[in-house]
Amino acid sequence: MPAQEQLDARNRILDRDVERVLIDEASLQARLAELGAAITARYAGKDLLLVAVLKGSVLFLADLMRHLPIPHEIDFMATSSYGTEVASSGVVRILKDLNKPIEGRHVLLVEDIIDSGHTLAYLTGMLAARNPASLEIVTLLDKPDRREVDIAVAWTGFSIPNEFVIGYGLDYDERYRNLPYIGILKPEIYTESDAGNPLE
Ligand code: IMP
Ligand code: MG
Repeated sequence: MPAQEQLDARNRILDRDVERVLIDEASLQARLAELGAAITARYAGKDLLLVAVLKGSVLFLADLMRHLPIPHEIDFMATSSYGTEVASSGVVRILKDLNKPIEGRHVLLVEDIIDSGHTLAYLTGMLAARNPASLEIVTLLDKPDRREVDIAVAWTGFSIPNEFVIGYGLDYDERYRNLPYIGILKPEIYTESDAGNPLE
């Protein structure tokens, strides 16, 4: 089977769980080209380090890099929140830290989605203490209605309504990351699952 047909067949299986497509593949890629141009203009001639927050932002990072025709490095961090009680106090557990110091470097944090803002508030505080030359955020998605702490975001791909989304890196219970678009999950998937309602 040709590669595209294989991909279509695989996605059809996952597609059954999608209520509707919120942002299609072409819109994602078009917006990424715009973000890439803005970021290129900002960092041309500077020592740029892209820091992606695992795992949700890997597809965004991989596609965004292809729109940055300037030298840059990438690095990764991984976090997990302790659950609602500690999440509301903004404490995030670092599962993986950066490989190298960032002092004097221009750091751009690459995020999949900003929801309450607690994850990024914690990360930017931690990274700012390491004295980078600059520290900015690019996020693919933003749910402004859900914000609990103020975050200064330099670039946002799309502002979206308060719905649980999957695809293009974003998961529900570690699945659906490979969908090439951003979709809204059918509510029966999480009411029938042990993993529960992601919006609660
Ligand atoms: P925050 O700390 O509340 O801003 O949480 C941000 C993190 O929550 C993101 O990096 C995602 O991992 C996760 N998240 C928030 N909303 C969604 C969603 O609609 N779908 C998938 N993951 C989400
Ligand atoms: Mg995440």
